[in-house]
Amino acid sequence: MWQFLRRRLPLLVESAQKYGDIVLFRIGNERIYLFNHPDLIRDVLVTNQKNFTKSRALVRAKRVLGEGLLTSEGQFHLRQRRLVQPAFHRDRIAAYAQSMVEYAARASSKWTDRARVDIHDEMMKLTLAIVGKTLFNTDVESEANEIGEALTTTFAAFNVGVLPFSEILERLPLPYMKRFNAARARLDATIYRIIEERRASGEDKGDLLSMLLLAQDSEGDGGQMTDTQLRDEAMTLFLAGHETTANALSWTWYLLSQHPQVEARFHAEVDALGDRLPGSEDLPALAYTRMVLTESMRLYPPAWAIGRRAINDFEANGYKIPARSMVLVCQYIAHRDQRFFSHPLRFDPERWKPEVAATRPKFSYFPFGGGTRICIGEQFAWMEGILALATIGRQWSFRYTGEDSPQVDPKITLRPLNGIPMNALRR
Ligand code: HEM
Repeated sequence: MWQFLRRRLPLLVESAQKYGDIVLFRIGNERIYLFNHPDLIRDVLVTNQKNFTKSRALVRAKRVLGEGLLTSEGQFHLRQRRLVQPAFHRDRIAAYAQSMVEYAARASSKWTDRARVDIHDEMMKLTLAIVGKTLFNTDVESEANEIGEALTTTFAAFNVGVLPFSEILERLPLPYMKRFNAARARLDATIYRIIEERRASGEDKGDLLSMLLLAQDSEGDGGQMTDTQLRDEAMTLFLAGHETTANALSWTWYLLSQHPQVEARFHAEVDALGDRLPGSEDLPALAYTRMVLTESMRLYPPAWAIGRRAINDFEANGYKIPARSMVLVCQYIAHRDQRFFSHPLRFDPERWKPEVAATRPKFSYFPFGGGTRICIGEQFAWMEGILALATIGRQWSFRYTGEDSPQVDPKITLRPLNGIPMNALRR
C-alpha cells in the first residue's frame, strides 16, 4: 500500500521487469493485475471490453465530471458518445486549427529572447486557452476570466480528490477542500449561465458547446442533452482536453532540447513552410513533426496507465482472474518494452517511419487507449500538438536549465515533477 501511494510508477516498472506479462498485487481485499503484453492489453481494451468497467479513480472523479464521457458507463455512455462525436468530426476539428495556431502564436509572442520560462506552465496555459476558445468561444487567458480562474483551482484539487482515502480527506475541513468546493460552485454557475444564454439566443457560435447544444440522438431516443449533461460533458472536455496535450508538448520541448540533430530536422521542416503561420492544410508537410510527437508520447505518455474492473471471472494466459479484480494496462511500461522497441530509452523519431511502425503489434503503443473508450479527442490532440509545435518552433528553441533531468510525477497524467525550466531562444 505504501509503495503504491509513494512510488507507484517505479514499483510497476520493477515488477514488470521481474515477473513479466502478468503481475498480481494484493492490497487488503483488492487484487490488482498489471498486464504487460500487447495481446493482453488488446483483450482488456477491445476484445473483452464488455467485461470491464472503469476503475475507482475515475469513479471518484465523478464529483467533478459528473456523468461525462470519461466517467459514465454502459448504455448512457454510448448515447453520450453518439451525441458528442459530431463535435470531433474531421471538418469541425479543421475549423479549430486556426484558434490553435493563433493562441500558440500569441503565447510565444509574450516571451523575450533568453527569457527563463517554465515550459510546462506555459503549455498548460496555452492548451487551457485553446480548449476554452474551441469549447466555449471564451478567452480563458484574460485575467478577469472567471472560468479560467475557477478551472485552475478546481483542477488543482482534482488530483488530490482521486487519491486513495480522498473520501476521508473530503470530510475534513481542509483549506484546499474549501477552496475546491467554492471554485467548483463558481465554475458550475458560470457554465450553467453560458448554457442558458446560448439556449436563449439559439446561435451556433461554431464551438464545441454549440455542437453539443445542437446534438440530437438520431440513433437512439432522438433527445437532446439536459443542462446537467451539457455541464458534465463541457467539464470533462475541459479537463481531458488540456492537461494531456500540455504534458505531451512540454516533454517534447524537453526532448528536442536534448537532441540537437532531431531538433535541427524539426526546424528544417517547419521553416520549409515559409514565412506564414501554419494551418490544418500543412499537416501532411509536417510528417517529421508528427514522428517527433509520437516518439515523445512513447517515452512520456500523458495518460500513463488505464485501470479497469472485471465484471466476471476471465482467463488470461492460462490464469483465472476473478471477478472484481482491478486490471491495469500501463502505457509507460508497454512503450518501453524492448521486445518491440530496441534501445527503448533512446529518443528516436525514426522508429515511426510508416514501414517500421507497421511491423509492431497494435497495442505496443496506445497513448489514446483503445476500444469503445478510445480518446474522443485523439485527432484534436494530434492537430493541436503538431500545429503548436510548428507555430512555436518557427521562432523559438529551448534550452533546459535544470541541473538534473526532469522527473516524472505520475498523477492522473504524467506531469514533470517540478516543471521544466528552460531558456527561450529566439531563432
Ligand atoms: C495528447 C493528448 C491526449 C491523450 C494522451 C489522451 C489520452 C486519453 C486516453 C488514454 C483515454 C482513454 C481512457 C480510458 O480508456 O480509461 C482518453 C479518453 C478521453 N479523452 Fe483523451 N487524451 C488526449 C487529449 C484529449 C483531448 C484534446 C480531448 C478533448 C478535447 C480529450 C477528451 C477525452 C474524452 C472525453 C475521453 C473519454 C472518452 C470515452 O470514454 O468515451 N482527450 N484520452
